[in-house]
Amino acid sequence: MALYSEKVMDHFLNPRNVGKLEDANGIGEVGNAKCGDIMKIYLKIENDIVVDVKFETFGCGSAIASSSMATELIKGKPLEEVEALTNKAVTEALDGLPTHKIHCSVLAEEAIKSALDDYRSKNK
Ligand code: FES
Repeated sequence: MALYSEKVMDHFLNPRNVGKLEDANGIGEVGNAKCGDIMKIYLKIENDIVVDVKFETFGCGSAIASSSMATELIKGKPLEEVEALTNKAVTEALDGLPTHKIHCSVLAEEAIKSALDDYRSKNK
């Protein structure tokens, strides 16, 4: 069996929602101390819906695929659903990741939570 699923390869080679969102109102950046990879998520939230999302990931292929899939999963979704997104859901949507690459999907969950915190702290 291949180490990486076709979905992982697809999202790594053709990542969705890459870049910066100039009018983002929630930005989250997290890093993994061990591998040194960094992920930044930009959210544009209107009426408690994520109307747009982009990411910049300086990291491994699994981190790029996880960011890409995570942004697809939260685009157009209400905040409570976005809040509930877990790295497990991201991994499942990618048809799995090798065990030693699960932490890459955790980065996506954490980056989204951090962007939501940023949004909430600015919009109390
Ligand atoms: Fe660090 Fe993938 S190896 S995020």
